[in-house]
Amino acid sequence: MKTVKLNNGTEMPIVGLGTWLSKPEEVYNAVLTALQNGYRHIDTAMVYQNEEAIGKAIKDSGVKREDIFVTTKLWNTDQGYDKALKAFELSLSKLGLDYVDLYLIHWFKGYDKAIQSYRALETIYKSGRAKAIGVSNYSVHHIMNILDNCEIPPMVNQVETHVTLQNHFLHEYCKENNIQLEAYAPLMSSRINELLENETLIRISKKYNKTVPQIAIRWLVERDIVVIPKSVTSQRIISNYNVFDFSLDDEDMKEIRKINNGRKIFVEFDNVDY
Ligand SMILES: NC(=O)c1ccc[n+]([C@@H]2O[C@H](COP(=O)([O-])OP(=O)(O)OC[C@H]3O[C@@H](n4cnc5c(N)ncnc54)[C@H](OP(=O)(O)O)[C@@H]3O)[C@@H](O)[C@H]2O)c1
Repeated sequence: MKTVKLNNGTEMPIVGLGTWLSKPEEVYNAVLTALQNGYRHIDTAMVYQNEEAIGKAIKDSGVKREDIFVTTKLWNTDQGYDKALKAFELSLSKLGLDYVDLYLIHWFKGYDKAIQSYRALETIYKSGRAKAIGVSNYSVHHIMNILDNCEIPPMVNQVETHVTLQNHFLHEYCKENNIQLEAYAPLMSSRINELLENETLIRISKKYNKTVPQIAIRWLVERDIVVIPKSVTSQRIISNYNVFDFSLDDEDMKEIRKINNGRKIFVEFDNVDY
């Protein structure tokens, strides 16, 4: 299993299972399948409404808790110091865990709210009940606000990242500040068909005898970006993790870089109205 080291020394598996839109009855089996097939990293959030089923699957899997990296996130309506502390307790109890490995602020909801919420994350981190803390859907100016005001710098920034939205500049900024970039929607989420039909990716997939999703995931691994493809389909869950027996050469990386057009699928970080 390949991991990255966060700025506090915590090891984070570079490939994890995404669970947005995975219903509780589906996610239980998805997490079991993932853990039985090598995954040691599960990404969820309060708003996904599947934390209980994920916690149950983790317990039933027989894999030791300390060997699994679990991320959950603070939802927008719970931002602010006191509300964030309460929301964290609720997530922990739903998961049935004593701690999470990573707790993230889910979206940017204004500079003041960000600082208040982040202070709560620092309190949680100091209590040992989140082994790492960070942000999600943060651009450079949002991160600067945290860095200017925080005591404990964030360890992770989870943002939409895939072949048409490659985030080279944000990635460089995060690296300079020892913040790990994590890619959500790595298979282009609801627009996965655009990824599956991309001619460059199809050509490269044939060269390595791999699938297009495997190429898209491996391309992020090559960039040392953590990646959390979502699936509730057993065969896809297994296949998406099968990316550690090959590597893309410089020529392939350059070809994939040309696909970048900066087009987002999800909302702009400054315009979140939920
Ligand atoms: N922080 C945030 O704001 C944020 C936002 C979005 C997502 N996320 C996180 O990132 C994770 C991944 O993003 P995402 O769920 O939006 O999108 P994604 O992982 O890019 O794509 C998921 C879609 O691809 C399908 N799929 C997966 N593997 C496949 C394969 N090998 N072949 C064909 N189809 C495949 C899935 O279908 P099936 O499930 O039917 O197999 C699902 O429809 C989320 O689940 C969540 O944990 C975070």
